[in-house]
Parts: sequence; C-alpha cells; structure tokens
Amino acid sequence: MTTNGAKGDVKDLNLAPEGVRRLEWAALEMPVLRMVRDRFANELPLKGLRIAACLHVTSETANLALTLRDGGAEVALCASNPLSTQDDIAAALVSEYGISTYAIKGEDNDTYYRHINEALDHKPNITLDDGADLVTLIHTKRKELIGDVIGGAEETTTGVIRLNSLAEDGKLQYPMVAVNDADTKHFFDNRYGTGQSTLDGITRATNMLWAGKNVVICGYGWCGKGVALRAKGMGSQTIVTEVDPIRALEAAMDGHRVMPMQEASEVGDIFITLTGGMKAVGSKHISVMKDGAVIANSGHFNVEIDIDALEEMSESRREVREFVEEYLMPDGRRLYLLGQGRLINLAAGEGHPSAVMDMSFANQALSVEYINQLSDKLENKVYSVPREIDDQVGRLKLESMGTKIDTLTDEQNQYLNSWDIGT
Ligand code: ADE
Repeated sequence: MTTNGAKGDVKDLNLAPEGVRRLEWAALEMPVLRMVRDRFANELPLKGLRIAACLHVTSETANLALTLRDGGAEVALCASNPLSTQDDIAAALVSEYGISTYAIKGEDNDTYYRHINEALDHKPNITLDDGADLVTLIHTKRKELIGDVIGGAEETTTGVIRLNSLAEDGKLQYPMVAVNDADTKHFFDNRYGTGQSTLDGITRATNMLWAGKNVVICGYGWCGKGVALRAKGMGSQTIVTEVDPIRALEAAMDGHRVMPMQEASEVGDIFITLTGGMKAVGSKHISVMKDGAVIANSGHFNVEIDIDALEEMSESRREVREFVEEYLMPDGRRLYLLGQGRLINLAAGEGHPSAVMDMSFANQALSVEYINQLSDKLENKVYSVPREIDDQVGRLKLESMGTKIDTLTDEQNQYLNSWDIGT
C-alpha cells in the first residue's frame, strides 16, 4: 500500500512521472469528461460508492477513474486485456492519484485473473466492464459479492452480447447499463476510434505501407466499418467478408469488394478481424494465404484468429519485430501474426484517441451517476443509456468543438409533429 492509501500491482512505480504527463496530455482532448468531472467534484454524487472497473488501463481510462474519484467514489481498477495496460499510467494511478490499480502489460492468464479478483476484493457497489469479465466472475466464482452490487455498466459490443445472453437466461443478478449502445459511444468510438487506432497499431507494429495493399476486413459492424473506411482512405484495396446479408450489402454500396473469406484468403495482404466471434481466420484460410500475409485482430477477444491452428500448421515461429511473429509454413510461406492475436490497437498502439474516449467515458461516468440515483428502481435487466444522457454528451461535445447547429422554428416543429399538413 502507498502512503495515499492506494493498493496495487503494477510494473514499476518509477514510471509514474511519465504516466502523469501522458494522462494530462489526454485530458486536453477530453473536455466533456472534464465538465462532468468538475460538476462531480462540486456535487459529490458518488460519495461513499465503491467502484471496481475492469477496463483497458490507458491515459483515457485514468481520466475516467479520476472523474469517479472526484465524484466521491473509491475506485479500484484492473485490466480488461492482458496486453492493453500502459504501465506508466498504472504506476501514476497508484502513486500519484490514490487509485488502487492491478495491471501489468503482458501479464499471464493467472495474473490477469488474480488482478480481476483483487479489484473485486474491494467489494464494489458498481462494476464497470469492457468485455464483461467482472460481471462473469461475480455471477460464477464470486457470488458472495452480489449483495453489495447495485448495478454496472458495460463498454463494449462483445460484453453487451454476453449480458443480453445472461439476461435472456434469467440469470442476470443486477441491473446493467449498455454504454456501448449509446449513439455517442458506438457511432464514434467503435467507428472512428477503432478505424484510426487499428491502422495506427498495425502501422506501429509493422511500418507497412497501406497504399495499394489488399486489406481484408472480417466483419462489417461499427468497428469493421471504421477500419474499412480508413483503410480505403489510405489507398488500400478493401475487401469485406460478412455473414450478415444487410451488412454485406452495406459494405458493397460503401464501395468495398465483398466476397467469402475463403476467396479473400488467397488475395489478402493484411487481414483484420473484427467479428466478435471466433475463428474468422481458420485453418482452411491459413492454408491458402499468400507468402508475407499479415494477420491482426481488433475484436475484443483473442479467439477470432485460430492461433492453435497456425501453431500446428507451421514448422517454426520467431519474433521478427516487437508484436510481429513470423510463422514458417512447411511449403516455405511466411505468415505474420500481430500482437498475439490480441486487440492490435491497444497491444501495439495506445488505443482509441482521447477525443472519442471523451464521449465514451462521459457516458460511463453519467451512467454510474444514473445507476446510483435510481438504484432502488432498476431491475435486473440490461438498460440503454438514457436518451437525455446521450444527447447531453453529444451537445457538450459539439460545444467543445465550437460547432453550432440549427434549431427548428415553431412552424417547422408543428409540421414535423402533424400528420395532416403539407400534402
Ligand atoms: N478502448 C479502445 N481504446 C481505448 C482507450 N484509449 N482507452 C480505454 N479503452 C479503450
């Protein structure tokens, strides 16, 4: 324990000064969260709450943790992915800001789960997840904690899918807010955030040129759309693979080539998975990929690429650059797996830019306040972020950008709300 009362398990507390600098830099691009933080500091709406957050430990998440702390909560943080932690930020949180943090970049599976359990040992009243790990543990191995929990919030698509399954099975034991589904979250974070940060992560890992490359984007949800859009903007020939006919159609009309994964596997130079499912890249795809093909994942879990198959099918493996492993196939082809198949934007890059996390985390902070205010009314269901919160975040973001918009006149309003005028 440090003198400020924070506990933690981080790589090196000496990294804290760099963490402070980067946290403050990120804050400059997070004006909406800043406004929430200032109000929280005045009103202390979270006074006495214990919050456990299992999120990517980044400079943006640190700003969220400080917002919750300034609102009066005691916050414990652990990583939502073994490779996404920024060690300098984790150090700064513990030693400079009094936030108990359990996260080390590159931690093994046992340490990852030990850290989640350590965050849960703080006996949270509210859980914040990015991928539903806290919720899952509380509903399975840490059921004794359920009594203390008044609600939780979920940051990502994959986590929301899991929560909905839990709720449909009638097993969800406390109310959850699906922050991911707020318009000011997924339209921006999932699309423009993932779009930019995925290309950034792959570029940092490989320093490859995008122009002229055949880039295969597996999955055309909001994240896939963003990656395809940005790859096209960099001059890549974009190919989308999908299982959903409407999304496939959308991809085709957005100007991407659409084809089955097996066909795409023969021509792709760079493969990026964002399906939310498993084995989007499997053995039959690996067996026909070109020499030099690069394979990366930007979906939440590391199951989108069948790494076991890659291991089994290859003759040898070596690290050729940080975050780049070369698999030598028996026929002489070399395939390159990035970041061990984990989220490449956070493994090799710094994740989404602060300016989009600003909206995502303003939604998180306001959702925590909402859960606390309504704790005795909410049922064990998955709730949407209230429209007023979503609109407020959008308005504040526009305001912070200095962008003004129009308002309807009374006459226009009346027209839009009527059924009998104007034909
Ligand atoms: N998810 C994606 N990018 C992120 C970031 N910069 N911080 C926290 N979570 C993220």
